[in-house]
Amino acid sequence: MKLQRTLMSLSLCLFTVVTVTVTATATAADTARGEALADGCTSCHGVLGASQGHIPSINQMSRVQFITALNEYREQKRTATIMNRIARTYTPEEIEQLADYFTQGLAP
Ligand code: HEC
Repeated sequence: MKLQRTLMSLSLCLFTVVTVTVTATATAADTARGEALADGCTSCHGVLGASQGHIPSINQMSRVQFITALNEYREQKRTATIMNRIARTYTPEEIEQLADYFTQGLAP
């Protein structure tokens, strides 16, 4: 009984550590995945998100602004011509990976 309880709290503890680590830091794999996903954005938003045309640049947004915008498009809460349709096709995890890619080196 006692051993069982100790094992349970140990695994709970490990689970917490792993979860916190995963959400706190973007791994190299996340960044690579973000780069691959970004190919679906750069035809409109420009290389690295620096637009050359009338579509807004997305290379100067903070991570929070970026994720908020994408989530609001996904939930149809932000006016859009196209982004509401595009954002719906990405999971919350993929949106974070896209944010990691487009907001590298900017404020959180
Ligand atoms: C077909 C062209 C097109 C593609 C592809 C596209 N976008 Fe957009 N994006 C737009 C347009 C146009 C807007 C302005 C809002 C609207 O009208 O939908 C916009 C707005 C945004 C904004 C808000 C910018 C701001 O200043 O508020 C973000 C963030 C964004 N897009 C991210 C992305 C990401 C990430 C991808 C790839 C997953 C992507 N977009 C793919 C055309 C595109």
